[in-house]
Amino acid sequence: MSLYILYGSQTGNAEDIARDLASRCEEQLGLSDVLCDTLNSQKKTITEIKAHAKMLVVICSTTGNGDAPENAESFWRSTKLRSAAKDLYLGVKYAVLGLGDTNYDKFCHMGKAFHKRIGELGGEVALELHCADEATGLEDVVDDWVQKILDTIKEVMSADGEAEATTTTPATAVGVDAVSTVATNLALSDEAAPGGSEETPTPAAMNPEAVAAPTKST
Ligand SMILES: Cc1cc2nc3c(=O)[nH]c(=O)nc-3n(C[C@H](O)[C@H](O)[C@H](O)COP(=O)(O)O)c2cc1C
Repeated sequence: MSLYILYGSQTGNAEDIARDLASRCEEQLGLSDVLCDTLNSQKKTITEIKAHAKMLVVICSTTGNGDAPENAESFWRSTKLRSAAKDLYLGVKYAVLGLGDTNYDKFCHMGKAFHKRIGELGGEVALELHCADEATGLEDVVDDWVQKILDTIKEVMSADGEAEATTTTPATAVGVDAVSTVATNLALSDEAAPGGSEETPTPAAMNPEAVAAPTKST
């Protein structure tokens, strides 16, 4: 099973962070099965994530007025569909880093939206959502997040199938404290999809702000 690091990046920040993380996973953690690519690279094979990914890390900026970067747009369209299978990410542990700028109204909108939607589709939060703010310096959050996500990846990727199978709660199996109330809140949400229709969700209905997740690490 692989580690998937997927990014959505308009001007290269999220891509740089993703590629740096992938290198660290290989060099520091000795992982050999790391896929690092754009979110859109998965658009036609979204179901393969569940089949092949033990853990999914999404790093996504927000552009325009709360919009997905071009290289994440079609993946987001597939993910937000009301008709998306409710178990699309079942068994996949995931973490999201959002990049944004608090000078914009919809701060880190896409990071929040991905975090919420992947949880609604069965994903299990391995590390709580972190949102980095370009207005104050992305590194304030990113540096801390990189350390935390490396620890989390190490725990998740080293938990073998047997250990998981003999443990009643997957969160305990991987020793991840951060499998949090966020996941519970998301799972309980009865919003079938973020939006009033499959193709054009209204920003109000998407409302990722409602997710009870921290927007910044402390
Ligand atoms: C044209 C433009 C629109 C943006 N819109 C938003 C936005 O709506 N919300 C937000 O939080 N950040 C917004 N940002 C800030 C970017 O998300 C931020 O600069 C991020 O670091 C870019 O990462 P990237 O290089 O991976 O795309 C915008 C930036 C630009 C240049």
